Amino acid sequence: MRIINIALLGFGTVGQGVYELLEKNRDLLKTRLGLEFRIKKILVRDKHKKRELKVPRELFTTNFEEILKDEDISIICELMGGIEPARSYILSALETGKQVVTANKAVLAERGAEIFETAKRKRAYLGFEASVGGGIPVIKTLREALVGNQIQRIMGIVNGTTNYILTKMLEQGLSFEKALEEAKIKGFAEPDPSLDLKGIDSAHKIALLGSLSFGVFIPFEKVYVEGIEEITLMDLQFAKSFGYIIKLLAEARKIKHQIEIRVFPVLLPENHILTSIRLNYNAILIKGDFVGDILLYGLGAGKAPTASAVVSDIVEASEYLISQNSPLIRYPLKEDKELSIKPIEKGIFKYYFRFSALDQPGVLSKISGILGKYGISISSVVQMGRQKKKGAVPIVILTHESEEKKVSLALEEIDRLEVVKAKTQSLRILE
Ligand code: NAP
Ligand code: HSE
Repeated sequence: MRIINIALLGFGTVGQGVYELLEKNRDLLKTRLGLEFRIKKILVRDKHKKRELKVPRELFTTNFEEILKDEDISIICELMGGIEPARSYILSALETGKQVVTANKAVLAERGAEIFETAKRKRAYLGFEASVGGGIPVIKTLREALVGNQIQRIMGIVNGTTNYILTKMLEQGLSFEKALEEAKIKGFAEPDPSLDLKGIDSAHKIALLGSLSFGVFIPFEKVYVEGIEEITLMDLQFAKSFGYIIKLLAEARKIKHQIEIRVFPVLLPENHILTSIRLNYNAILIKGDFVGDILLYGLGAGKAPTASAVVSDIVEASEYLISQNSPLIRYPLKEDKELSIKPIEKGIFKYYFRFSALDQPGVLSKISGILGKYGISISSVVQMGRQKKKGAVPIVILTHESEEKKVSLALEEIDRLEVVKAKTQSLRILE
């Protein structure tokens, strides 16, 4: 039976998941593929660190060159994360003629132009199924199943950590910090969790999905990003009282020659399909010109689902290796200097505002007066309870469709009012 030797770069949540899967389902893979996968080397920072899994010590190395020079190793799985040294290792592996699999959306979204170009030039395989949506086969769906479609829109919940936090806060009243702690312990969060919280991880993912969908490399910096750090339990509860659930949404759409690409928390009506996506589940809605709408759903973060995606790439890489075919790079992902991204200021949305204002006569009319001046029309207003002592109370206003630019100007003016005691919370509503 043919043996395929693999090296893992990284042995954290994902690396250990891949090791476990290849051990546990060794016989299944042998029967299905007639191949045996053997992990020959594992690159880590610290060879002596205590690990949960029992792994022969001699597999560990801290020397990447040792892996690169080993001619028996044909597939390198980069499961470390971060930009450097991940980028250099991926490029060296491709240049040396190895097949590469990565779960690292950050390096692809930020340095993808040179990485994809190198893979193409070297006619090497570069698999990145695990980089978006954990165990959900969204990359293969775009590259293979939907290859005959013009993709018009792709949107969804693509970060498990933030979805876990928002779910736990709303459903169990957990504090933001406690819910984040749980997500870290469960292995969903990035090594630097601020990437999850600030929406950057989702932005990396939507940059990749948008690039695949529209066939042009969309640099990560072009994605408009807001995270969930400012979302409070009060916002989740107010939104619910109006019939909405707050989710961190990633969205890319193409309208004629312009692309809209963004990540931000939104209020979705309770009956929207994406509001049923809880905890570390992800879901991605894709609209193609022939297929119409499809929804992909599954576990978007964690050891086991991510390992499942990595192994699907290892198998695909092995197919190329055995057949000696060079992969058909169906999405050239070339950079487009003329790429036109619609600025967020030109957007039109409905809004949720939560003002922190003094409980005094005339306050509401001051706020609504400024909104009116900028042509922002109110659809609902709620002031919860009366403040017994001196201090601010929350006033929540929902609006009809308004121009983003005018909303920014109005909120700047409102936040300068003496009766307004804190920065106004402003969230977009999608129907
Ligand atoms: P992790 O648990 O922090 O593990 C990172 C591993 O990489 C550790 O074993 C670490 O070595 C090793 N490492 C880091 N920098 C290194 C360096 N410079 N040289 C050698 N080894 C280095 O991270 P993870 O959660 O498995 O995530 C890995 C990648 O998968 C990231 O790109 C992440 O975005 C992606 N991903 C994660 C998930 C998830 O649910 N966790 C899901 C999808 C994709 P030591 O053990 O010696 O410290
Ligand atoms: N930190 C990421 C998340 C891991 O929470 O979704 C999966 O990409």
